Amino acid sequence: MTQSFEELKPMLRPVGVHMGVMEVDAEKCISCGLCIKNCPFKCWKMGDNDIPKMKETHSCFSCFNCIIACPVDAVSIVEAYHVNEGFFDIQYPPIKMPMKPRDAEGNPDEWTAIERVILERRSVRNFKENPVPEPLIRRVLEAGRFAPSAGNQQPWKFTVVTDKALISQLEEACHTVLQGIHAMYNDDQAVMNLVGNLPTGAFDPRVQGGFRCVAQKELPIFFNAPVVIFLGCNEKMASPEEHAGICGQNMNLAAKSLGLGSCWSNFGATVDLIPEIKSKLGYDDTWRIYSTLCLGYPQFRQEGMVPRYFRPVTWFRSGTDGPQIEE
Ligand SMILES: Cc1cc2nc3c(=O)[nH]c(=O)nc-3n(C[C@H](O)[C@H](O)[C@H](O)COP(=O)(O)O)c2cc1C
Ligand code: SF4
Ligand code: SF4
Repeated sequence: MTQSFEELKPMLRPVGVHMGVMEVDAEKCISCGLCIKNCPFKCWKMGDNDIPKMKETHSCFSCFNCIIACPVDAVSIVEAYHVNEGFFDIQYPPIKMPMKPRDAEGNPDEWTAIERVILERRSVRNFKENPVPEPLIRRVLEAGRFAPSAGNQQPWKFTVVTDKALISQLEEACHTVLQGIHAMYNDDQAVMNLVGNLPTGAFDPRVQGGFRCVAQKELPIFFNAPVVIFLGCNEKMASPEEHAGICGQNMNLAAKSLGLGSCWSNFGATVDLIPEIKSKLGYDDTWRIYSTLCLGYPQFRQEGMVPRYFRPVTWFRSGTDGPQIEE
């Protein structure tokens, strides 16, 4: 049975949403503007005395990329994104920094090189113009090719674009579609055409914040990166979306280990909806382009550890009655 707008309103027009709130310590700030530049959703503006302050209407989704870009540690968290009532209230837990590493005996230890890459990797959306040498791009692709897959199906396929003119054309084509989706979202009648065609998560206020920034051209789809890798999986294989995630993250981490920066762009996967572009990129109807990875050399520091939600972990330990919940 088809649901009405009124029935779906809790999902389409959610309440109880608290966007993140950040602040700058004016005593420490050197007014370099990097926090403003590294905010994907352009939440900051330069305030009085060249000290950044948050815009009144902002969509901070608590990525904390402003913190890691600041060379003098002047940015801090006032409140992390959370929802405390309504459809998107999934009981947000507190945020926590990574725990201190310990060895098997529980003594203080160092992170391994791989753990460090995982924990310090942040999305890089500001790139130098320098091209990435092909031998390095190939190493990133190899990290994807050697990802694990159910039944060893290896359902992925990559298309690498370094042609700037083509990246610009793809940016424009995706923008047109995404702008249309954003306009539909804001219209109480048109939004109903999105229901069923977009997954529930696409209506999450953070994702909608992204649509708004893309529609307003505040967030570029491919971040002006010198390399864009399209990642498709064959729909005849098991769990293609899951495989795209595993394969793509291998590539992201390999890129970081090579001194490159990368950012996923699912907005870039909009090309999947444009048949002539999808075909030009080498994918027929049996393939779906799930995501894109944008690669390049970081323009400034865009790495470092940040806090994340810590959801209580349920343990059933040997020799105990369990469960024990770790807060
Ligand atoms: C599947 C996937 C799709 C994403 N798509 C986009 C995107 O289209 N645009 C964007 O700016 N960031 C995109 N991101 C990056 C997320 O915003 C980012 O991973 C998140 O905010 C956490 O920040 P971090 O990567 O710096 O830790 C995507 C991430 C994932 C995993
Ligand atoms: S936490 Fe992320 S979204 Fe929020 S202001 Fe900082 S960079 Fe922007
Ligand atoms: S990055 Fe740090 S120093 Fe630079 S403007 Fe932002 S708060 Fe100030």
